[in-house]
Amino acid sequence: MTNDAKAIPAATHGASGEIAIPGDKSISHRSVMFSALGSTPVHITNFLHAADCMSTADCMEALGAKVVFQKEDELTVTGNGLHGFREPASFLDAGNSGTTLRLLMGLLAPQPFFTAFTGDASLHKRPMGRVAKPLRSMGATIYGREGGTKLPLAIVPAEGQLHAISYDSPVASAQVKSAILLAGLYADGVTTVTEPFRSRDHTENMLKAFGVQLDIGEKSVSLHPPKELTAPASIEVPGDISSAAYWIVLASILEGSDLLLQNVGINPTRTGILDVMKDMGADIAVENVRMSGGEAAADLRVRVAKLQGTEFGAEIMPRLIDEIPVIAVAAMFAEGDTVITGAGELRVKETDRLQAIYDQYNKVAPGSIELLEDGLIIHGGRPRQDATCFSYDDHRIAMSLAILGHAGSGIHIENADCIAISYPTFYDTLAGL
Ligand code: S3P
Repeated sequence: MTNDAKAIPAATHGASGEIAIPGDKSISHRSVMFSALGSTPVHITNFLHAADCMSTADCMEALGAKVVFQKEDELTVTGNGLHGFREPASFLDAGNSGTTLRLLMGLLAPQPFFTAFTGDASLHKRPMGRVAKPLRSMGATIYGREGGTKLPLAIVPAEGQLHAISYDSPVASAQVKSAILLAGLYADGVTTVTEPFRSRDHTENMLKAFGVQLDIGEKSVSLHPPKELTAPASIEVPGDISSAAYWIVLASILEGSDLLLQNVGINPTRTGILDVMKDMGADIAVENVRMSGGEAAADLRVRVAKLQGTEFGAEIMPRLIDEIPVIAVAAMFAEGDTVITGAGELRVKETDRLQAIYDQYNKVAPGSIELLEDGLIIHGGRPRQDATCFSYDDHRIAMSLAILGHAGSGIHIENADCIAISYPTFYDTLAGL
């Protein structure tokens, strides 16, 4: 056992009560990054104080922005204008965060100074060519391992202005889209990104709130380069549906459960889990719908239900990409089979999540998971047992295993502390249910 192993006992009763969902990770990253491009203070509330977003806050500080925390989840960021970044004193460390690295590659490719990036062991393995390639076609010079596609990466000062491009992205990825749009802020014309399916649109929503002109099509977005950004006085970050996902699944599969999840972001580019769970027969009521920081938010009431297997594929994938590990848990408690395809992107997340689900969930309920090249077949209702499972230091695998064990026969999770990447209070909340 590693010294950050965790034993999760099987539940003795249903999950009930209320859970305040912590701030959205994607929106928290963008709130700090974009505020650093303005020139007036932005007061950010319900910021996700977790390792990934702190990587972004530290990088923006290293680039010259003023970042002052009033509380763990409340801070003020003041930038020096669109052209006000300074050369960082040393490497920018993105830690475990793909969003920090990819978005900053886009933001820093046009700058007149040198930047070098590093990150943790997982981030060193992840593909950055998907961002470096379009940035190079805009005129950026980016070096890195494996032909300039892996960390460590370096961006040399741009020679003149970057060129606007119209990019047809082979992957539906908000990180790729955002990186190109951020580079486009500095380009010599209108930059357009088209995706196979629309990915999360938090960058578009927030850039609009900063006064940037965008034309949004069904699967494309075009950005008109602004002279300056006009920062809003405040940004309220809604709760993260990717964090709420663990409780949505737990309450749906654990007998006697009735949970109220407060302040969950329900941006339609993120709510694939609600569609799939409802399709499986889940009992989820969306209450008190409102706007929070330019994004829709609501409270979700989830009660235990009889779930059936389902099928879904590539089209819905960008709307639930981070929720597959916990949806797979729901499928193990459903009647019948669930077939997930078009999920090849999971192989290049913090770990190869398809392989991790196959290797670890089958320890808990042998014969439950079949592995496909781009997905999973999950046989529901197989007998479960206590097992020792690895998280591969992947926060979403660790939390999904915890739900699997708690709703089932208990579990021991190795390298359990990685939940601090996106949900530091997760185990406390689970214990308090
Ligand atoms: C994110 C986009 C998604 C998601 C990640 C956060 C973002 O990644 O998986 O957790 O904030 O833009 P991809 O863009 O690689 O699909």
